[in-house]
Amino acid sequence: MKPVKSVKSLHAWSALEALSEREMPHLRELLNDRDRTQSLVLKGMGLELDFSCQRITAEVMHGLQALAKESDLAKQIKLLFQGASVNTSEQRAALHPALRSLEGDPVSWSQDITRNVTTELNRFCTFAEEIRHQKLTGFSGQAFTDVVNLGIGGSDLGPRMCVQALSNTPSSSQEPSSKRLPRVHFVSNVDAWALYKVVRELNPKTTLFIVQSKTFSTQETLLLASSAKEWLLQNGCPPDQLSLHLVAVTANTSLARESGYRENQIFKFWDWVGGRYSVWSAIGLPLAIAIGEDQFKEFLAGARAMDDHFVHAPWEQNLPVLLALIGIWNNNFLKASTHNVAPYSYLLSHFTPYLQQLEMESNGKGVDHHMQALEVNSSPIVWGGLGIDGQHAYFQLLHQGSHLVSVDFIGLKTDSCPLSHAQAHHACLVLNMKAQAKALALGRSLEDTSKELMLSGLSETEVAQIAGHRTFRGNSPSTSIWLDEMTPKTLGALMVLYEHKVFTQAAIWSINPFDQWGVELGKKIAQQLQER
Ligand code: F6P
Repeated sequence: MKPVKSVKSLHAWSALEALSEREMPHLRELLNDRDRTQSLVLKGMGLELDFSCQRITAEVMHGLQALAKESDLAKQIKLLFQGASVNTSEQRAALHPALRSLEGDPVSWSQDITRNVTTELNRFCTFAEEIRHQKLTGFSGQAFTDVVNLGIGGSDLGPRMCVQALSNTPSSSQEPSSKRLPRVHFVSNVDAWALYKVVRELNPKTTLFIVQSKTFSTQETLLLASSAKEWLLQNGCPPDQLSLHLVAVTANTSLARESGYRENQIFKFWDWVGGRYSVWSAIGLPLAIAIGEDQFKEFLAGARAMDDHFVHAPWEQNLPVLLALIGIWNNNFLKASTHNVAPYSYLLSHFTPYLQQLEMESNGKGVDHHMQALEVNSSPIVWGGLGIDGQHAYFQLLHQGSHLVSVDFIGLKTDSCPLSHAQAHHACLVLNMKAQAKALALGRSLEDTSKELMLSGLSETEVAQIAGHRTFRGNSPSTSIWLDEMTPKTLGALMVLYEHKVFTQAAIWSINPFDQWGVELGKKIAQQLQER
């Protein structure tokens, strides 16, 4: 875990730097090579990654793989999966892959860990099924119809994104047969309006609050929980029945107990799970309620398949490693310091915010493991949102602005929306996603633009007056990620693809992706201001 050299002094780094200073063929040329295109489309675990619109040649790929080797990536992956203390600033392991492992897996976590994980998984899945089957009731004896998740950061973004993506799949709406499934809502923002706008539509007799907080001390979440309790009390809930409406998910179970939560409504996870890696634990409870135990376990299976691939696949076929290396090429060598994430599926509306925390809270660091200032950029600025909406807002900047921005397009190959005309909608999304990747890569030269304008009947003078405005430099790099379809398995695999991309990049930059000291100072000052 202790590379001696700074990343900048690695031979492979200098070689890549030299390569990036040489003039490379434009993507227009690169995309003419069919063999290259074919070799850059990789499939696995219900995903297809198309890297053909990246500014990479065989030489660049070799250079990047040499960088992975020289950074001891293989060893660092081994240490992660052996449960070594990879979170160096907090002296602990990062065992989130253990949350989706099975007893008897070749990766051997300690038996205690596997046993505890399995016990808690079964506990919260059983609870989720009881809620789904309307077996649990509130103070009036009526079953819960609505579940409200109160939490922020990792205690919100992962489950919120997954519920939005998966709660509409046919499998999740089929059962339990005749009864309506509880609706799942999310409130993360401490602004009272955020809570009010959700609860004003709900019946307090049938509303269950899940208070999610690893530390159980996050100011915003505690304030939301206290106002939720107040709302229940003001709406007829007897004080001694309040706890029926409250669930705690936390690594700080003693605090939850002290705060009056019922023992059987406290679900735990552990300090070795970072918030942004916690949806695989009891933090996934809202998702388990939305899709049911079997589907939740499929979600874990998709994640596990990507873990397995990451550990075993050679670099040249390893999807998270390739995504990470190409990201490093764009960020550190082509100087694309911002990275746009553009899903072309409404089901993935919350994917970009989820990824912003995963990437930037993990890798937004300025010092390496030895507290030496980094000499190279770490995480790019991740931004974006639904691509089809972005096209009519900020895509102008992607095409003609002065920044070079790399893009991840994410789409579905097939879509199962039951609306009668849904296939036409899906075709429109697919078409646009392909068109954007192509337009960014190919652009349109001044010469071609002028020719097109002449053909449209404009005079030479008129063309000279406008052609420059309508020219696109192209050569903007993107990856297109296709999910065969949206299922718990493919979503699990997609998320772990990014988790391990982040880990790989951190390994190369020699930074710790598992702490987040950067968020502390502001919290502390807010506390001091409150105490004044
Ligand atoms: O402030 C950042 C952070 O600590 C994240 O890392 C975490 O996901 C979020 O706050 C919520 O923390 P908790 O789950 O402890 O309430």
